[in-house]
Amino acid sequence: METNSDSKPSRLRGAIRNSWIYKRLQGPIFDLKGHMFDLYHGVKTMPQVTLDKLEIDSPNKAGGGIYAGTEPKYFRTILNSLEIDFERFHFIDFGSGMGRALFLASEIPFKKIIGVEFSRELHQIAVKNIKSFTQRKRACNDIESVCEDAMEYLLPLEPTVYYFFNPFNRELFGRVIANIERSLAQSPRETYVIYMNPVNNDLFVNSAAFKQIGGGPWHTLHVSL
Ligand SMILES: C[S@@+](CC[C@H](N)C(=O)[O-])C[C@H]1O[C@@H](n2cnc3c(N)ncnc32)[C@H](O)[C@@H]1O
Repeated sequence: METNSDSKPSRLRGAIRNSWIYKRLQGPIFDLKGHMFDLYHGVKTMPQVTLDKLEIDSPNKAGGGIYAGTEPKYFRTILNSLEIDFERFHFIDFGSGMGRALFLASEIPFKKIIGVEFSRELHQIAVKNIKSFTQRKRACNDIESVCEDAMEYLLPLEPTVYYFFNPFNRELFGRVIANIERSLAQSPRETYVIYMNPVNNDLFVNSAAFKQIGGGPWHTLHVSL
């Protein structure tokens, strides 16, 4: 399950990532990968959008980060590292935007895939994408985008892989984790958390409900106790 490794190739990758030229090209490379994904799969998950450009009817708008789709290759590596019986698990993306992580997750035979997004505009794009999405390697057809604030979302009582691509600030993150903790106390079940760009990872590390079991340069992985 450990997704971090200290091999020579990974040290080389680390050195490349820290180089000036890579940092300079990172944005355009990230965008190019996003456009390639869209072209290949018949969807629109680009461009990045700051939330001030969107009408969002929620008191938590100011605590939300920008919309940016997940980087496909890195995400696939994380999902494929999970040694679980996917057919029993829901996948829930908190702050799912236009849905790119949902489409990547559909390459895995999850029982159901749900995206929770509070911007109606992004949610509507995700709904359109769900209809147009083409994927030869599709393993899950049950994909849904829900237009709701993550703070209000009622968690399904199923074994679940939760995904967070740094969607909101520390205060809101604390509230979502408290919701998950409450739900797990009431109805214990297998739960994994993939946390991308884990700037508030200590919230999971200090949670009595979770144990960190892995990680990599851009993510951490946790399991419920
Ligand atoms: C970095 S994007 C991630 C998009 C998607 N998860 C992906 O990986 O392709 C973060 C998303 O979280 C959404 N978001 C922020 N705060 C939210 C909240 N309180 N409830 C629901 N969605 C929220 C934003 O609108 C944005 O679309």
